Amino acid sequence: MSAGTTDRYCVIGNPVAHSKSPQIHAAFAARTGQRIEYGRRMAPLDGFADVVRDLVAKGYKGANVTVPFKLEAAALATRLEERARAAGAVNTLSFIDGEIVGDNTDGPGLVADIVRNAGVALAGKRILLLGAGGAARGVMLPFLQQGPQAILVANRTRATADALVADFQDQVTEVTSCGFEDIRGAFDIVVNATSASLAQALPPVPASAFTQDTLALDMMYGDQPTPFMQFAAKQGARTRDGFGMLVEQAAEAFAIWRGVRPDTHDLLTTLRS
Ligand code: ATR
Repeated sequence: MSAGTTDRYCVIGNPVAHSKSPQIHAAFAARTGQRIEYGRRMAPLDGFADVVRDLVAKGYKGANVTVPFKLEAAALATRLEERARAAGAVNTLSFIDGEIVGDNTDGPGLVADIVRNAGVALAGKRILLLGAGGAARGVMLPFLQQGPQAILVANRTRATADALVADFQDQVTEVTSCGFEDIRGAFDIVVNATSASLAQALPPVPASAFTQDTLALDMMYGDQPTPFMQFAAKQGARTRDGFGMLVEQAAEAFAIWRGVRPDTHDLLTTLRS
């Protein structure tokens, strides 16, 4: 191991005890030979900015941000990377020379999981994105950068989907919105970016959206397949939960901080068990 000090990072959230990020970053550090410490910091709901200031004062190099502070982190950053500005939210902070730099690796993590781990290209594909909240907004720019043929954003509240697609009109990709009841045709990729799985609910997506060639991905994960994954599997689709996205967003953050992207392939299998 090389000499020198150990750089410190952490994840800030409320709650934060359940976060797998310390475990994931410890595994990345071991694999890349990087000397870092990565902990958890619980912030009071009205105390996020104080926690960040305390970390900066203590010489931390960065932090990940999770629920419910991603919007506040974007407001607090003194500089925002383009993808964080597009997402309107920050999950990765870097403390560099007095600046608080905000980035968002959630969308790039999802793209990495689909393209590298699932082996499904996004270029030229028809994508159905369910939900129009923060999670959906965060993946729009990273998806568009892959050049899909079309992205249809469907949401329970139609107006929210309309407002989202208005912000992401594109020269290459057809970007449109609708309510769940207006979803027509089948898609190559269906992503559940609603929070329905948290309540064990199924967003009302029609069975006809799936074929045997569809990749159906839920951003949530748990011990059991989500209701969305179970429904998609019943239609013959290939399913995937959000665990790969979680590991890949961490790998992107690690790469921002350390300049080296850890190999995630076998780690995904190890961590899952
Ligand atoms: P997040 O940051 O996880 O995206 P959010 O911004 O609160 O959280 O957005 C939650 C998303 O899940 C919204 O698109 C919401 O739909 P509405 O805009 O109509 O509220 C969607 N959602 C939550 N529960 C749902 C359910 N049971 N069925 C369908 N959509 C649901």
